[in-house]
Amino acid sequence: MSESAKLTIGSQEIELPVIRGSEDEPAIDISKLRASTGFITLDDGYGNTGSCKSDITFIDGEKGILRYRGIPIEELAEKSRFVEVAWLLIHGKLPTSEELRGFSDLLTQNQNLHEDMKHHFEAFPAMAHPMAILSSMINASSCFYPGLNDKELRVDRFPIHSARLLSQVRTIAAFSYRKSRGLPILYPKPELKYSENFLHMMFSEPYRDYQMSDVVVRALDLIFLLHADHEQNCSTSTVRMVASSQANMFASAAAGVCALWGPLHGGANQAVVEMLEAIHADSDDGSRFIRDAKDKTKGKRLMGFGHRVYRNYDPRARIIKKACDDLFDALEHSDPLLDIAKTLEKAALEDDYFIERKLYPNVDFYSGIILRALGIPTEMFPVIFAIGRMPGWIANFKEILEEPHSRIYRPRQIYTGQVNQSYVPVDERS
Ligand code: ACO
Repeated sequence: MSESAKLTIGSQEIELPVIRGSEDEPAIDISKLRASTGFITLDDGYGNTGSCKSDITFIDGEKGILRYRGIPIEELAEKSRFVEVAWLLIHGKLPTSEELRGFSDLLTQNQNLHEDMKHHFEAFPAMAHPMAILSSMINASSCFYPGLNDKELRVDRFPIHSARLLSQVRTIAAFSYRKSRGLPILYPKPELKYSENFLHMMFSEPYRDYQMSDVVVRALDLIFLLHADHEQNCSTSTVRMVASSQANMFASAAAGVCALWGPLHGGANQAVVEMLEAIHADSDDGSRFIRDAKDKTKGKRLMGFGHRVYRNYDPRARIIKKACDDLFDALEHSDPLLDIAKTLEKAALEDDYFIERKLYPNVDFYSGIILRALGIPTEMFPVIFAIGRMPGWIANFKEILEEPHSRIYRPRQIYTGQVNQSYVPVDERS
């Protein structure tokens, strides 16, 4: 017998279907509630709303579990690489060696931007934030690929369009950095792998190649991999929302970049490092900042702490913290910000305010410190996040594209404004 839930509204009793996910997570299906009762549900910030069914990523926030297509993030972080994980997320299974080679070749063949795109870069002011450039340029790229908006071609050409987007996001990101520094643009090299190529385009000089170090390449690749998907977060939901109107993949991803930009989401890695720098400049050991972060009148938060879904240690933060220590050991590098971060973490984890609210470090708490050690400037941190998140956005876009009964996303609201009133001409208004 199928499960159901009973809802009583006044004298009316309604039976609502219960559905369960493959990890047995239960949900009450309220999609017919309004039609049968006139009621909608209200869930500010969507904290309790499942917006879709998805096969891509599973999170158990209470237990601190994250799996891509069923594979634990810890295993992928140890054994896989970003490009393989991108395939896994987009296609739903690990690639064969032939598929992986084909995918890597496709990324290489599509890594160059259309030459005319370079003119667009010229128009941005030197101080432009690279996230503004990234979202604009991803959207602008769509102008160069006819057929993106055609429903049938969107399905047929999905492999090539997704490879273009995944490969070119890295090229656009590096170009935007070089533009912001007044440096000449460097093209990707076909012989370099995904993460190597990004480092090359960022840091090589016209006559002197960036010296690749395995440790550095691996650290960057790991950051990309750990950000590759995270189910229905703010930016991914935005991508799905835009995709649901049948907008093209580039437009949907450009919207995802905008949603990711804010400090409560993908901008948090930048905000964490800026917070740590401010604490350092104030000669604070972190205790004053923790006190302020607990005081609601101060308007401060311990950036890199807390998560809507995790009420436990974010498993990505655990992996990144270890990667940070390993990188610093390998490079014989030190950073006072890492010491401050560790002091802050210890203090917060022992503090009743953070314990009661189940606030733990999230992925962004240590990732910025790694990126600093790699020489990536702070304003580029959210861009790194966006490059990493691209496979997840593409995989979510694909779910919408392939859903035969896909409907436009259109939430409702409870209206709290003025009730019906008449227009008053301007000279009769008091
Ligand atoms: N520092 C201090 N207090 C916090 C923090 C924090 N970082 N995070 C949450 N709180 C407090 C809130 O003030 C609130 O307290 P109250 O119950 O006394 O009012 C309580 O914890 C619950 O917080 P909410 O804002 O309701 O939690 P929500 O789930 O809406 O927000 C979020 C989650 C945005 C991540 C929040 O924890 C936050 O702002 N963290 C800092 C920014 C950050 O690190 N963002 C990155 C998230 S991970 C990612 O996007 C990749």
